[in-house]
Amino acid sequence: MAKGFYISKSLGILGILLGLAALSTIIALSIVYAQEKNRNSESPPAAPEGPTVSPGSLTTLATTLDRTKQWNLYRLPKTLIPDSYEVTLRPFLTPDSNGLYIFKGSSTVRFTCKEATNVIIIHSKKLNYTLIQGQRVALRGVGGSQPPDIDSTELVEPTEYLVVHLKDSLVENSQYEMDSEFEGELADDLAGFYRSEYMEGDVKKVLATTQMQAADARKSFPCFDEPAMKATFNITLIHPANLTPLSNMLPKGPSVPLQEDPTWSVTEFETTPRMSTYLLAYIVSEFKHVEEQAPNGVLIRIWARPSAIDEDHGDYALNVTGPILNFFAGHYNTPYPLNKSDQIGLPDFNAGAMENWGLVTYRENSLLYDPVLSSIGNKERVVTVIAHELAHQWFGNLVTVEWWNDLWLNEGFASYVEYLGADYAEPSWNVKDLIVLNDIYRVMAVDALASSHPLSTPAEEINTPAQISELFDTITYSKGAAVLRMLSTFLTEDLFKEGLASYLHHFAYQNSVYLDLWEHLQEAVDNQTSIKLPATVRTIMDRWILQMGFPVITVDTETGDISQQHFLLDPESNVTRPSDFDYLWIVPISSLRSGSEQEGYWLEGTQKDQNPLFKTNAGEWILLNVNVTGYYQVNYDEDNWKKIQTQLQTDPSVIPVINRAQVINDAFNLASAQKVPVTLALDNTLFLIQETEYMPWEAALGSLNYFKLMFDRSEVYGPMKNYLKKQVTPLFYHFKSITNNWKKIPENLMDQYCEINAISTACSSGLPECEQLASSLFRQWMENPSNNSIHPNLRSTVYCNAISNGGEEEWDFAWEQFQNATLVNEADKLRVALACSREVWILNRYLGYALNPNLIRKQDATSTITSIASNVIGQSLAWEFVQANWKKLFEDYGGGSFSFSNLIQAVTQRFSSEFELQQLEQFKENNQETGFGSGTRALEQALEKTKANIKWVKENKETVLTWFTENSK
Ligand SMILES: *[C@@H]1O[C@H](CO)[C@@H](O)[C@H](O)[C@H]1NC(C)=O
Ligand SMILES: *[C@@H]1O[C@H](CO)[C@@H](O)[C@H](O)[C@H]1NC(C)=O
Ligand SMILES: *[C@@H]1O[C@H](CO)[C@@H](O)[C@H](O)[C@H]1NC(C)=O
Ligand SMILES: [Zn+2]
Repeated sequence: MAKGFYISKSLGILGILLGLAALSTIIALSIVYAQEKNRNSESPPAAPEGPTVSPGSLTTLATTLDRTKQWNLYRLPKTLIPDSYEVTLRPFLTPDSNGLYIFKGSSTVRFTCKEATNVIIIHSKKLNYTLIQGQRVALRGVGGSQPPDIDSTELVEPTEYLVVHLKDSLVENSQYEMDSEFEGELADDLAGFYRSEYMEGDVKKVLATTQMQAADARKSFPCFDEPAMKATFNITLIHPANLTPLSNMLPKGPSVPLQEDPTWSVTEFETTPRMSTYLLAYIVSEFKHVEEQAPNGVLIRIWARPSAIDEDHGDYALNVTGPILNFFAGHYNTPYPLNKSDQIGLPDFNAGAMENWGLVTYRENSLLYDPVLSSIGNKERVVTVIAHELAHQWFGNLVTVEWWNDLWLNEGFASYVEYLGADYAEPSWNVKDLIVLNDIYRVMAVDALASSHPLSTPAEEINTPAQISELFDTITYSKGAAVLRMLSTFLTEDLFKEGLASYLHHFAYQNSVYLDLWEHLQEAVDNQTSIKLPATVRTIMDRWILQMGFPVITVDTETGDISQQHFLLDPESNVTRPSDFDYLWIVPISSLRSGSEQEGYWLEGTQKDQNPLFKTNAGEWILLNVNVTGYYQVNYDEDNWKKIQTQLQTDPSVIPVINRAQVINDAFNLASAQKVPVTLALDNTLFLIQETEYMPWEAALGSLNYFKLMFDRSEVYGPMKNYLKKQVTPLFYHFKSITNNWKKIPENLMDQYCEINAISTACSSGLPECEQLASSLFRQWMENPSNNSIHPNLRSTVYCNAISNGGEEEWDFAWEQFQNATLVNEADKLRVALACSREVWILNRYLGYALNPNLIRKQDATSTITSIASNVIGQSLAWEFVQANWKKLFEDYGGGSFSFSNLIQAVTQRFSSEFELQQLEQFKENNQETGFGSGTRALEQALEKTKANIKWVKENKETVLTWFTENSK
């Protein structure tokens, strides 16, 4: 999928936080994953989507089933290869007499026998078959050949197969056709063919839609459900005559009435190109659309609920789709493979979006944009998710990975080029820079743990749907993006594009493995002479994808020594995973000498080297990894750090903006790994007093959030707030001035984000003018509720601060607005802001509301408690609440959902005392019987993290207190 899951700003922080806490084992891929799903739509977008299956227990059948029987193996045998399917589906959008929503279907699959066999094994999940002559299927030979008789059929549930036992063998190189008729439930489970519901006015509407990736096409019709089993598909939908059917292709012609019941229509779609089952899509709804015919003849349409289209919420998506499709056609040197591109926003959708070929599905917040009510973050999310999904239409859909173990190539690639596509559509935004904060630093926080894992997994280790679904993690998306960006940078983008186009042309409509891409890139390298590599593309890249983690590069500018070491946030952790490359990398190194870029250098897989490039004279400094195009961190001798600090405090513009963020990010990570003193990291934030760019500020706020969590209940927090206030005050006045006293919004994206940070930091650190600003903007709205003049960018911050500084009246007003909000973006902003109150009784009342489904939708319950827990005053209340209500929470709110890990993480994130550790241990003991479900791992992590926090606070509190005290003067 593409951007399904997101990541919030606070998520980025989570990694740093865990890192600083010097966690030994762990993490929290599951937590990261879960948080991605709950990403606050206000944050600048980043990242991936994932599948709907929860990575449950990975029990294999090995112990219980006879593995010599092919139908007990999760992978299909290679004996039969599908050629074409004919599939007819009829979804019923009203419940049957048993109250069940169902769909009926029939299908024919034509396949070729590659190797004689007396058994047909095809995927089928939760489908009930109608018997044909006593069997679940009927078999026919193609071209007059006589098929063997069917002996029996069975459904093998664990491996999700329909198995047809034959009395005789199928003949090698012969073709057969197999028919079936079946019905399945049109459940609200967001998987396979499912239903989604929404309200239009007071009327409940039901639509039927699909989510096949990774392994749920089999839940819709029997199919060879593996990505390499490409075939052509003739889809027919039977649907209520007044509704619109959509699929990957355009209809062949007008719909015709269903003979036995003319209130239904039959729509046949054109035959698809050869494609994988996981990219199929079909939807029946009453949605409306806006459209445009692109100059190259491609029909572009954006679909959504009728009222959303009437309010023009699809216009922005329509505006950017044409340019993005053109961009990728050029980038890949390959025309868009289909004659139409539909994109649809769905009320219920688990991932962020899904790149179904020609019919991309989205969460509403990732496709729809309201020019009046949406924020710049909402807009950035829309354009980057669209770019991600459209990038897959070639890379992923036209050329598909052979098996899911190479998912990282598919998702990493799309997660990289989404920035290029979005940049083309919004050239003034500098959106490409954001990959550093949103993907690279985010994933480094996870990849720096001893429990990380390599990008690439051997195919034979990935078999079950649960194993596949576990691959949809931040390593796959963000590290994949980071190493491909690094590769594209050292090859140069032109060379990369040349190899890429050659790869796509060669494998169009087929499947490939990642080594095929390396081979085509290598050919491009061999065909020219200006770019020279120290080794082949494959040799260089092997070290980045076959071993986990990344290096920290250490430079001694006195001697010119340069060395590398596997970077671990907890220096005491044990790396148990062996590596063929001894955790050494072949590292492309770019550098600046006092602001001027030096020639490139390769650290060639050895531990140490020495080069005059890295030796300085008095007054000169060296800075590595220009624009953070390399996937590594950098440390220097103290003298060089000091010179960089001086440069930043005298003329920061000499250092590129991304590297100003890097200096902060890397130093805090190095401090948590005990490679530099914590005061050095803090010293690296001193220059912010004159910084007006978003990226360095965002890096600092992310890093300092851990300090806030550890100290906002202690005497350190006063001086820390004073320091932040001192640093942010000039930034606050900078924005006040360029926005003409807050009357307009800065022009470019980064400045808009920076303004949001300036206001939220100034207000939370207690700058009186900021607090007054927030209160008065909110007050104006309260006085005239039908006219909210607060700019959407600023709403989250203004609401939160006004409620924090206000009382019952402000809270009640916001609560009423929350209940009346029709736009989900607006409701979400209010729901989160309601947790900002400082009144204990208000927060306790709100906690009570969270478990009342009439007041807070069930799906939002845990995230509401989480918001309350992130408020320093709400933290202990939320913790008490969770302890008191664990059983109810567990029973009513699904121990199987992702959100429990979030919840546990949130209520324990400040824990840093022995007393809290005891409470947590007690909590674990008290609830053994109920259990912790999806929060089990999070609970263990919380225990470890609390211990690490205790240690970190003990070691650093005095130093940090002294530093903040001295530097807030
Ligand atoms: C699907 O339609 C195409 C074009 O009409 C046809 O060639 C193909 O045989 C059909 N597939 C099946 C399984 O009938
Ligand atoms: C399929 O059969 C099972 C078992 O009889 C039944 O419980 C289920 O409701 C059926 N599903 C549909 C969609 O008819
Ligand atoms: C879409 O493009 C049109 C024409 O350039 C422009 O008038 C309109 O404001 C754009 N809409 C959005 C939401 O960007
Ligand atoms: Zn994707």
